[in-house]
Amino acid sequence: VSGGIRPRIALVIASTRRERFADLPAEWLRMRLRARSDLELTEIDIRDVDLPFYDADVPPARAPREYHGDEKLRAFGEAVDAADAFIVLTAEYNHGYPAALKNALDHVFVEFTRKPIAFAGYGNVGGARAIEQLRQVAVELEMAPIRHAVSILGHEMRAARAAGVENAAQTFANHDERLTQLVDDLVWWANALRRARGE
Ligand SMILES: Cc1cc2nc3c(=O)[nH]c(=O)nc-3n(C[C@H](O)[C@H](O)[C@H](O)COP(=O)(O)O)c2cc1C
Repeated sequence: VSGGIRPRIALVIASTRRERFADLPAEWLRMRLRARSDLELTEIDIRDVDLPFYDADVPPARAPREYHGDEKLRAFGEAVDAADAFIVLTAEYNHGYPAALKNALDHVFVEFTRKPIAFAGYGNVGGARAIEQLRQVAVELEMAPIRHAVSILGHEMRAARAAGVENAAQTFANHDERLTQLVDDLVWWANALRRARGE
């Protein structure tokens, strides 16, 4: 680990629904990520980010870290700034990712650039279509989307709902190996790019 400092990994929860499925895989991800000694876990819940539809005059790429006195936007920008890498947990709505996530991504820019991003999704086909779209957006934000992804399938969602949040770890245990690969890779990129950003 570079400089002995653990990279800060932000778990981003995309769904903003009150009764969301997201809470079950989020709990499993928290448990697995907290168990690791090579990273520090933070969380960005898009439901709490709570930004209105984007309405700034100048795109954030041309107005870096200008928050226009908007405290919610500042809090979001600073949370993104503080992270070295991201794991986005995404739902799939009409073969895309949730609009609230796109709205949040559009509000900042430099806070995201030159950082790695990985994806965990859920849906009939594991959120795969939402994840592929997010990879394209990540490149425009000058991020490094990593290859490994976790895809929780429709029948696994049904089993997880039946098992409840307290059994999240067992429910998703068949994804543990893939998650380990994902996080190993993400930590590698987080350390490499943090070092490079510092130079
Ligand atoms: C508007 C809408 C569109 C949906 N479209 C899809 C879809 O394209 N693919 C899919 O796998 N599931 C789809 N679903 C089902 C979601 O996977 C399911 O509702 C899931 O619980 C959403 O995640 P959340 O509860 O964390 O918000 C859709 C759900 C909604 C509300």
